[in-house]
Amino acid sequence: MAAWILLVCALITLQAVYALSDCGVAPLNTRIVGGQNAPAGSWPWQVSVHYQSSHICGGTLISDQWVLTAAHCIIKNSLSAWTLYFGRETQAGPNTHEVKRSVSQVIVHPNYNNSYLNNDIALMKLSSPVSFTDYIRPICLASSSSQFYNSTSCWATGWGKLGKNETLPANAPLQEVQIPVIGNKQCSCDYIPEKDAKITQQMICAGQQNKGACQGDSGGPLQCKQGSKWIQAGITSFGVPCALAGFPEVYARVSEFQTWITNQVAGANVGFVTFTSSGTDTDSSFVCRSNNSGNSAKFAPELGFFIFSVKMLLDRILV
Ligand SMILES: *[C@@H]1O[C@H](CO)[C@@H](O)[C@H](O)[C@H]1NC(C)=O
Ligand SMILES: *[C@@H]1O[C@H](CO)[C@@H](O)[C@H](O)[C@H]1NC(C)=O
Ligand SMILES: *[C@@H]1O[C@H](CO)[C@@H](O)[C@H](O)[C@H]1NC(C)=O
Ligand SMILES: *[C@@H]1O[C@H](CO)[C@@H](O)[C@H](O)[C@H]1NC(C)=O
Repeated sequence: MAAWILLVCALITLQAVYALSDCGVAPLNTRIVGGQNAPAGSWPWQVSVHYQSSHICGGTLISDQWVLTAAHCIIKNSLSAWTLYFGRETQAGPNTHEVKRSVSQVIVHPNYNNSYLNNDIALMKLSSPVSFTDYIRPICLASSSSQFYNSTSCWATGWGKLGKNETLPANAPLQEVQIPVIGNKQCSCDYIPEKDAKITQQMICAGQQNKGACQGDSGGPLQCKQGSKWIQAGITSFGVPCALAGFPEVYARVSEFQTWITNQVAGANVGFVTFTSSGTDTDSSFVCRSNNSGNSAKFAPELGFFIFSVKMLLDRILV
């Protein structure tokens, strides 16, 4: 505690010079291994993105006025339909530490590919800045020189479904799950049976059987801890619903977008931090068996419906 107070004082004193160093710190996140419910304040950058009063996606706070989310979450460009919630615990409340904002600008990546979900990244500007608290703070973003080797342990968070057929109860808190990064070579091989999916350099995969993201988690973070800071590696994008063996979830690879993000938020205080992996990346020597019959035989009936998107949630909202 004393150390934290010192750190706060140091940060206040040196804010002008070292302002970037305050991203990715979650004073209330003390856990080492994961449960299911995230204690309040564990993920202070987690945003709940609402479209016409319903949660449809996650997002992350990256400065006091910008939120990062997935491009596929931006189903309409009418600004007034969006509300962003910060410091939220459950979708039913009460949410003691919550603050909400409307949106003044939405920027979808110009090369976002709606069919293949490549460059699945978007930014939302808040109508006015939020003040940081222990429950509302920005995450660090992985810089362009970051490396996430296979097996790097990270966490995904969201209010999405618990399983293909299991909606998260409204009074349930934000969910968290610890999952390993899966290298792009292995992930591309895993997705061969899904003809509509193509794993690109702008994507990063993570997940294991029964652990991963699902519908409603889209736009939220894949985040990995380095030292005392949490660094966002990915933005939840798509998968085979949900957390099936052999199909890791796919995220937009944040480190690929440092230049784009920096240009869009011009002047905003967004913290980019380089995530480094040690040793060698076992994915670099991964060899894909060309026919990958394992995945196609086991899961063929499940395939073809793989975007965690809002599509299903949207059906519910619009009915
Ligand atoms: C999406 O990517 C695919 C494969 O690269 C390409 O064939 C298609 O034209 C792209 N679509 C758009 C809308 O860019
Ligand atoms: C990558 O990591 C996963 C999860 O830790 C592991 O199951 C898999 O064998 C690894 N793949 C390679 C090629 O090392
Ligand atoms: C999910 O629901 C569908 C249709 O109701 C059913 O066919 C399927 O077996 C269910 N899957 C699981 C994993 O319960
Ligand atoms: C695919 O691989 C499996 C075993 O890995 C093998 O039994 C099968 O004959 C192969 N099929 C083709 C078309 O190569």
